[in-house]
This record gives sequence, structure tokens and C-alpha cells, in this order.
Amino acid sequence: MGSTFFACQESADPVVKLDTQVEIVFGGKIDLNNLLNYEGQAKPAYILQDNTNTNPITNEGATLGRVLFYDVNLSVDNTISCGHCHKQQFAFGDTALASSGVNGFTGRHSMRLVNSRFSLEQRFFWDERAINLEAQTTQPVRDHKEMGFSGTGGDPSMTDLIAKLQSIGYYQELFAFVYGDATVTEERIQKSLSQFVRSIQSFDTKYDAGRASAMNNMAPFLNFTTQENQGKQLFSAPPVFDPNGIRLGGGLGCQGCHRAPEFDIDPGSRNNGVIGTIGSLAQDLNVTRSPSLRDFVRLDGTLISPAMHDGSLKTMEAVIAHYNAITDNPNLDPRLRPAGKPQQLQMTVQEKEALIAFLKTLTGSAIYTDERWSNPFN
Ligand code: HEC
Ligand code: HEC
Repeated sequence: MGSTFFACQESADPVVKLDTQVEIVFGGKIDLNNLLNYEGQAKPAYILQDNTNTNPITNEGATLGRVLFYDVNLSVDNTISCGHCHKQQFAFGDTALASSGVNGFTGRHSMRLVNSRFSLEQRFFWDERAINLEAQTTQPVRDHKEMGFSGTGGDPSMTDLIAKLQSIGYYQELFAFVYGDATVTEERIQKSLSQFVRSIQSFDTKYDAGRASAMNNMAPFLNFTTQENQGKQLFSAPPVFDPNGIRLGGGLGCQGCHRAPEFDIDPGSRNNGVIGTIGSLAQDLNVTRSPSLRDFVRLDGTLISPAMHDGSLKTMEAVIAHYNAITDNPNLDPRLRPAGKPQQLQMTVQEKEALIAFLKTLTGSAIYTDERWSNPFN
């Protein structure tokens, strides 16, 4: 509605500048002469895991990814964008237990998209069914319930979506701007969406301020309270168990799977004992991935969104109670079944409070409001 893209393409001859203006249908504005900084974001030196592979973030690609991420045109009835289920104010997760798509509700709880780039694990989704982030990004588009271009049962297909996007003026402009010609392909959609998702990073936390001046993760952090340092120690150190899986001492063993300083999931993790499904009694034994634990809990101790793939744990206390007394299942990670018995951590009140105090230090602030990840259609 009156707002415009100001597109400026540099041709081979730098003297000639081609300026065009393209109306963006739902309002919104992106200045292609002044792209926001996606590719040049600083990451701390101690962050070593990175699943970028052959698709490095560029300002151009991530800008296109941002428009795609927030565009309801990616759904069959023009009502649902990625941002509908991945909301910036909730660390790109959803407070709803199941999120609504074009044909009903998702089977699992929406995942937070924080530091998705910084993991050794290459696979995505709770059950790791996408081989990499690129492959993940168009699965919601192709999902009958989520965005509806499944190509089955009367649904339009990915080819139909590509033709739809190809006919939209601002995509002709943007694809040409990023890829040199206006052709829309699934691969180009995947690459730009992945660049945008990988650009969503959160390192302005108390943890990072402390880690920056410490020798390693285990050393006490100077900016931490005694309780936060105790919580860090408990998170990091392995527990000592008796032959019945009852903890005698040591830490709580969280680090074995949620590995500092990225707090990404160990690619070898199996399930953590949460095997529920939303709205049914069926068991879901296949969940072996967790988003980074960064930006999981608010500074007031409440959860940003319900925890776990079935959203079954609504408070930090419930998460702790779960790990405190695990119930066995056939795909339970062996680390949670020491000596063949599901773990009983026997945490004291003081230990629980220290663990919560530590987890709060993993929450930043820019991610919730930074313009570069905000909805350009607003
Ligand atoms: C209708 C709600 C909905 C929509 C729309 C949606 N998602 Fe999701 N997203 C989810 C749910 C639910 C999951 C977890 C599903 C699972 O693992 O089975 C998820 C998982 C993901 C993950 C995996 C994160 C991880 O750490 O493994 C990424 C990345 C993602 N979505 C990106 C996107 C992108 C990009 C779009 C738009 C093209 C999108 N989503 C559209 C609900 C949605
Ligand atoms: C054996 C590996 C393993 C260990 C050890 C482990 N976790 Fe997890 N954790 C997981 C897996 C896998 C998930 C995803 C489970 C699901 O959604 O069903 C998860 C999920 C979580 C979540 C929810 C994340 C979200 O986005 O909803 C939190 C919080 C969490 N773990 C905290 C901890 C804490 C605290 C400890 C130590 C007491 C711990 N974990 C120990 C594997 C582990």
C-alpha cells in the first residue's frame, strides 16, 4: 500500500545504475541500496560449530529470505507465513501448543529458531528427518497441514507455488537482485530462507559476557553470582550414580547432550524420556533433537514457549522434575539410563534453583526486537 522497494542494481559498468521501484503488495519496504547487515555479524571466537557448509550468508540472500519468511503467499490460501508459527517475540517459536496451518494443527510443537547455524548436528526437525537446513525450509511449504503445497489429494504443488511467486513483481526484482536473473526455483528459495534462518543469532547474553573473559566453559565466570556459577558447574559436570541409577553426587550431566558454549544438541543423542504426542495417547519415540537451550527461559524464570516436542512441560520446574526422575522407554539415551536403570538425580532445592539461575544467563535481548529479523510487511 504505497510502500516501495528501491532496487538498485550495479551493472558490469559501474557508471550505469538501474533504478527501479517495485510495489510490495501487502505494504512494507526494503531498501536494496542499504541492506541490513546479515553477513558481517560478529560471532564470539569460542563459537566453533557451524552448519553453513556451501551456503554462506549474504546480505542479498538473507534479505530475500526475510521477505519469503514473512510472506503469506507461501501458503495456498494466503494466510500463513513461516513467521505465523515462528514468532520473533518468542525467540521464533510459538506459545501455542500446536500451531495452526492452512489445514489444521501441527503434530508437534513449533521449534525456536535461535542460533540454528551454530551446531555440529546438520539435521533439522525434532526427529532429524531433514538432512540439512536447506532441505528443511521447503518442507513446511510442501506440508498439507502447514502451508499446503503438497501436490497430493487435490493440493497445489511446489510447481504451482513457484509459478505463483514468479508472477509477483517484487520476487522478479528480488530474485534478479540476488541470483542475477529473475527465475524462481525451489533451490533458490531454500538457499535464501536458510541464510535468513542461519542469520538469527543470540550472543548478547550474560553467559557470553562471562565466557568472553574466561579461560574455558568450566572456569568460574567473573560476572556470575555464586549461584549462577554453581548452576553452570551442575549443568556441565557428569553425575555419579549408584548401581540403581540413583545419583550420589557430581553434576547433572546436561552438558553431555546440550553442549556449551553453543548449547547445541549432541548429534548422537537419543530421546530424553519425553515421548508424548499432542492430543493423542500415541508414543513418539523418535525425537532426538533439541533447539539450542539459548533463549529458552525468560529472565523472570518463565518459559518463552512450552518445552519439548509435545509442549508438555510448561514451567522450568516441570523440566527439572522430568530430568530428576526419568521413565524408561526403548529409545531412551543410555546416558539417562545409567547401569540399566532410568536416572534419579535427587536434586536438592538449592541445586534446582542454581540450575535455573544458570539457564537464565543464556537469554539475550536483541533477538526479540532486532529489525533485521522483523516482519518487512509491517
Ligand atoms: C503451521 C506452523 C508452521 C509453519 C507455517 C512453519 N513452521 Fe517451521 N516448524 C513448525 C513445527 C511444528 C516444527 C517442528 C516439527 C517437527 O519437528 O516435526 C518446525 C520446525 C522448523 C525448523 C527446525 C528447527 C530445528 O532446530 O530443527 C525450522 C528451521 C523451521 N521450522 C523453519 C520454518 C520455515 C523456514 C518456514 C516457512 C517456509 C516454517 N518453518 C513454517 C511449525 C511451522
Ligand atoms: C541424553 C541427552 C540429554 C541429556 C543428558 C539432557 N537432555 Fe535436555 N533434551 C534432550 C533432547 C533429545 C531434547 C528434546 C526432547 C523433546 O522435545 O522431546 C531435550 C530437551 C530439553 C529442553 C527443552 C528444549 C525445548 O526447546 O523445548 C530443555 C530445557 C532441556 N532439554 C534441558 C536439559 C537439562 C537442564 C538437562 C540436565 C538436567 C538436560 N536437558 C539433559 C537431550 C538431553
